[in-house]
Amino acid sequence: MAGVVIVGAQWGDEGKGKVVDILTEHADMVVRYAGGPNAGHTLVVGNDKIVVRLVPSGILREGKECVLAQGMVVDVSRLVAEMDELKSRGHAHVERLRVSDRAHVILPYHILIDGLREQKSGGEIGTTKRGVGPCYEDKAARTGITLGMLRDLRMAEDRIAKAIERWAPTIRALGGDVPSAREIATALEPLAARVVPLLAETSKLVDDALRAGKRVVFEGAQGTLLDVDHGTYPFVTSSSAAAGGACTGTGIGPTRIQRVVGLVKAYCTRVGGGPFPTELHDAAGDRLRKVGDEFGAVTGRPRRTGWLDLPALRYAARVNGLSSLAVTKLDVLTGFDEIKVCVAYKTPFGETDDFPIDQLDKAEPIYRSMTGWTEDLRATRLIEDLPRAAREYVRLIEDAAGCGASIVSVGYRRDETIVRVDPFV
Ligand code: GDP
Ligand code: IMO
Ligand code: MG
Repeated sequence: MAGVVIVGAQWGDEGKGKVVDILTEHADMVVRYAGGPNAGHTLVVGNDKIVVRLVPSGILREGKECVLAQGMVVDVSRLVAEMDELKSRGHAHVERLRVSDRAHVILPYHILIDGLREQKSGGEIGTTKRGVGPCYEDKAARTGITLGMLRDLRMAEDRIAKAIERWAPTIRALGGDVPSAREIATALEPLAARVVPLLAETSKLVDDALRAGKRVVFEGAQGTLLDVDHGTYPFVTSSSAAAGGACTGTGIGPTRIQRVVGLVKAYCTRVGGGPFPTELHDAAGDRLRKVGDEFGAVTGRPRRTGWLDLPALRYAARVNGLSSLAVTKLDVLTGFDEIKVCVAYKTPFGETDDFPIDQLDKAEPIYRSMTGWTEDLRATRLIEDLPRAAREYVRLIEDAAGCGASIVSVGYRRDETIVRVDPFV
């Protein structure tokens, strides 16, 4: 049995797409367990760049099973559009996707409410406006529509009508027009015809694969600090993005997971609102954004940039139970004379190595200054061949996390990667 979770250890966009694509070469199945089209995972193969939103990042490798599990929220129109795009780009096997019949459907009123709330609050959370939050709200309120319910659209329409009735006062208060259940159900007809044949009891599919000794990658979306329980609440997404979500979101037990690989970008980024203690508002921050091409894969928004936060990494290592790391975008730091790293925090109660998640507004990062390097890292394939300063930087990250880096990524291309240990072993 070999279940490996790949989880973002920061605020998302750590390079999960690239790493999952690499690991899938040695895997049999890739499972997305949380989130929805708020994710944007970038895959670069040759000169082809593909951003997947709902479809797992294993999709570029033919013969691997790709699963959307029940912790996800699925906008079926976006799923169908994404499948069509992948097919038009030569990945016809996308039709073999399996989708949980208990994942929830994002409907037009979820997107409407998400957008109206963002507008009214002046973009306080800065959501992706994909309807993700309101859809999870319906799930928790037991007024949601599951994908399985699309098998009987007449019944689904009744449930949609009830959900709209519940949301109507909110929509009106936000200045929106209450949509018609009839119109929504009619628009769902052709989409349901495409998606219903993909539905399956995916929890059993995944468990069977693991029992048969297959290698399964659980692909996280978002990141630990955006997790609804463990993130910088309320500036979070609405799902269980952290590693524990792989179990609840897939419907497998914790004993099925052997390894948890934490994705750590060599610096930090955040899209949207919320605390970001090591954020930079200077030339160094601009440089990280430019060299790292830090613009949202979903919304195109410039990402906020800042130095690496080791207390935050320690926190992520703990709540995810990380067994190893994949350090990404090390190449982006090339050419900095000085690289700063937050090693601890000053708080009203004294200094701490812990991430003061409930007092970030009163906490001040304490930095250690590291010497930079000038060498281009992109051709490096062995950790020993990294410049000494870069090697030390990786070691500092490993020491903070309390586990080794099994992968160090030194460029966005597949081959620009140092693979030290096969995380399946
Ligand atoms: P994800 O959401 O975690 O999958 O990450 P995104 O795809 O949103 O953002 C990561 C970006 O960094 C993408 O544009 C990747 O192509 C790129 N990327 C991934 N790894 C590396 C790396 O090691 N170096 C550089 N320069 N770019 C990388
Ligand atoms: P990947 O998988 C970075 C952020 C949004 C916003 C907050 C809530 O590509 O790493 P939502 O639309 O989920 O209700 O927005 O979460 N966010 C992400 N930030 N990467 C992501 O996904 C994100 N998905 C959501 O910017 O701050
Ligand atoms: Mg992303």
